[in-house]
Amino acid sequence: MTAANMHHGSLDGEPPQRAQLFDWINASWTTQAIRSACVLQLPDWLARGASSADEAAAGLGCDAPALARLLRALATLGLCAEDDAGRHALTATGALLCEDHPQSLRAWALMAGGPQWQRWGELDQSVRTGCSHRRRHGGSDGFDDLATDPAAAEQFYRAMVEMTRSIAGAVVQAMNATGARCVVDVGGGRGELLAQVLAAHPSLRGVLFDLPQGLAGADAVLAQHGVAARCRCMAGSFFETVPEGDVQLLKSVLHNWDDARAVQILARCRDALAPVGRVLIVERLVADRIGRTPQDRDVARSDLNMLVALSGRERRRSEFAALCAAAGLALTGEAHATGAWHVLQARAA
Ligand SMILES: C[S@@+](CC[C@H](N)C(=O)[O-])C[C@H]1O[C@@H](n2cnc3c(N)ncnc32)[C@H](O)[C@@H]1O
Repeated sequence: MTAANMHHGSLDGEPPQRAQLFDWINASWTTQAIRSACVLQLPDWLARGASSADEAAAGLGCDAPALARLLRALATLGLCAEDDAGRHALTATGALLCEDHPQSLRAWALMAGGPQWQRWGELDQSVRTGCSHRRRHGGSDGFDDLATDPAAAEQFYRAMVEMTRSIAGAVVQAMNATGARCVVDVGGGRGELLAQVLAAHPSLRGVLFDLPQGLAGADAVLAQHGVAARCRCMAGSFFETVPEGDVQLLKSVLHNWDDARAVQILARCRDALAPVGRVLIVERLVADRIGRTPQDRDVARSDLNMLVALSGRERRRSEFAALCAAAGLALTGEAHATGAWHVLQARAA
């Protein structure tokens, strides 16, 4: 093996494409190594100070040799590092798995390696039938199960805050709030995006609208951003009615649903839109020509995730235009936010 191909984990004479394929095939180990570290609270333990595997194992109730192996595996990913005395320290990247890190990805790691894991394990069945894991196992596509499972709801809504936090700044920059007085975040979850919008526009008021289980925990997010006094939380279903406002914000909502239900949501937004108001759809856009960029992969991953988990899908710009038209809206503008994320603006047709 040469130094160069050792670095990429490929064998002498092996084409790099084969090594890349081998990596993709084995990608599951990273999901589970990271999830396990989070379940075991390993990052939070190491955040208190560098620790030997024995100390960490004693503190976390683990088998010491096995934990040493997990630590080594995490070190290969740059999430922790071992010094000459055999003590393991958290790196800056590993610190992103701590519960209280402002940019934490802990809940996302627990979700990807937990509930999503089982669904992806039956992707072939979802492709064969076109139905989500939930539907094939007797459930219905939607968020009802979270109403009766507080632990799953806590994990899901936290994960959404984490994911939305990383793109909210770019969305705030991309969205047009000119002349707006009241922004309704429809299916806004715990309100991470709305809170950042309100923080950036001190004259705006907000309404955070979601199912009751989505709003639990929203007060803390709004308070953290110092906008609680300008934001009202309202529980309800966007298939029935949506609070009135001159901006209706829909982030990562339409992609959860099939076309018929996405049109229903848009139609309820249109009903509640002030005369000069606009609906802002924040979603990843499927490129007209599919490529191999990280953005293409992010959209493809999310699209398949919608297939295995719900009835939804990622869509092209033209497909959003068709949904809007069916709901009495017309696309009137578009801005790029970051990666594959765009803000599409629609007004009453
Ligand atoms: C993928 S999450 C997006 C949350 C948030 N917009 C974000 O991007 O962080 C979808 C949201 O839709 C909400 N939702 C699902 N069904 C709903 C319904 N019938 N009425 C209102 N909200 C609903 C969920 O509770 C959840 O907060």
